[in-house]
Amino acid sequence: MAFRMRADETEDSGISSEMQQFIIDNNRLLDELSSPGEGTSISPAQATTSTASSFAVFNQSQQAAEVSYQKIGFGQCGLVFSKPGSAHVVKIARPYFSDALWEDFLSHLRLFKAFSLHGDTQCRIPRVYSYVNKVNRAWWDANTALLPPNPEFPLPSQALITERILPLPLAIRNVLIDKFCPEGLRESAKASPLNNDCLARMYLGRHRTPNPPLAPNFSLRNYNLCLDQMLALGLPVQDYAREMAACLAIIHWQARVDGYDIEFVLGSDAEYATHVAQSLGMDVEQLEQLPKHSDVEVLLQRRGVRLWVIDFNLCNRFAMDDAFILGHEKEVLSQLVLAFFENDPYYPLPLMETNVDRQLWSIFRQEYLKKAAEILSGASQALKRLPVKFLDACVEREHRKLGKGLGHGHRDFKG
Ligand SMILES: Nc1ncnc2c1ncn2[C@@H]1O[C@H](COP(=O)(O)OP(=O)(O)O)[C@@H](O)[C@H]1O
Ligand SMILES: [Mg+2]
Repeated sequence: MAFRMRADETEDSGISSEMQQFIIDNNRLLDELSSPGEGTSISPAQATTSTASSFAVFNQSQQAAEVSYQKIGFGQCGLVFSKPGSAHVVKIARPYFSDALWEDFLSHLRLFKAFSLHGDTQCRIPRVYSYVNKVNRAWWDANTALLPPNPEFPLPSQALITERILPLPLAIRNVLIDKFCPEGLRESAKASPLNNDCLARMYLGRHRTPNPPLAPNFSLRNYNLCLDQMLALGLPVQDYAREMAACLAIIHWQARVDGYDIEFVLGSDAEYATHVAQSLGMDVEQLEQLPKHSDVEVLLQRRGVRLWVIDFNLCNRFAMDDAFILGHEKEVLSQLVLAFFENDPYYPLPLMETNVDRQLWSIFRQEYLKKAAEILSGASQALKRLPVKFLDACVEREHRKLGKGLGHGHRDFKG
């Protein structure tokens, strides 16, 4: 077993109720129809580049063969590209990160399989489509010219192709800009095509400092949404805590992966439902109540958003068999605890002061244990005890760090 270690504000709640509707619950789209004016117009360009309906996205992805890729994200390991309107992304390894991308692929495969055994899980993981080696002439000949040239980033490289998480809908992007972007930058932020590729990192374990200055370099790409902001927007934080906990339990106990450096992002639900009612989360009776000539295409663009988990190149995979895990119990648990705290502050934290934080930790704990018990129902008593030992070890570590005056959720390597 080779563990790869890595060293590497309170807002007023001004969000309108109809905004909350399409953020939170598709089933309430009906009410929203009574005020269709605000934020409903989506230009054809926006519809194809951001949150087009499943039907449109599917069609465009079939026709998009010769369209150029655009960079929609980047990180330490790779640059991520997508074609407008297509349903996949290509993550291309930076120089020296080829092995990391292969690890990403292997962990993603294992995690996808684990998630597919838990169909009731709300938090999704993108589908894995392909891995392209840099010597695959056919693929690189067909695609290199479509990728933006970059001297620091020689092609061909290794590439991982996965399902694209569609950006948050226009109306939500506008709410984020209206609430959190400095006033003088709002118009340019709304006009910038870069902000179309908006996914929000869901930091349930972090509050902004009270009365924070609004960020001068505002960008919606990988927007770090802290707990106080989610509360100000009226987002269902308890649901997120529950979904994240179930997701982490699947990662740990079904996939036997430590979850090191994974990301939890809020993005659109790109599920290709086969029927309009299914896509809208409505039943046929509700559809019959729509006002005459309701623009169903516009409604489809506003359908649900959900949590997604991505970025697995730093994950460590344990052997799958129970005997191995029990034989290395101490190392496995300490690796899980390390990964929990070294990650960006997605998870609720134990031993926090405010009621909302305490409640989120309690929900997280309860749901994590519930999902883990379900997964380990046929396992030995010794293995069944590991999930609670993991959580207790997290609390114990937090206690120790707080005792040393290091603050909540202290990270040993990332600071
Ligand atoms: N499947 C995807 N759909 C949409 N955007 C993605 C997807 N995967 C990655 N991204 C975007 O690209 C960024 C970098 O990808 P990531 O896998 O985190 O790379 P790295 O391993 O280099 O950090 C992410 O933070 C996200 O904004
Ligand atoms: Mg990343």
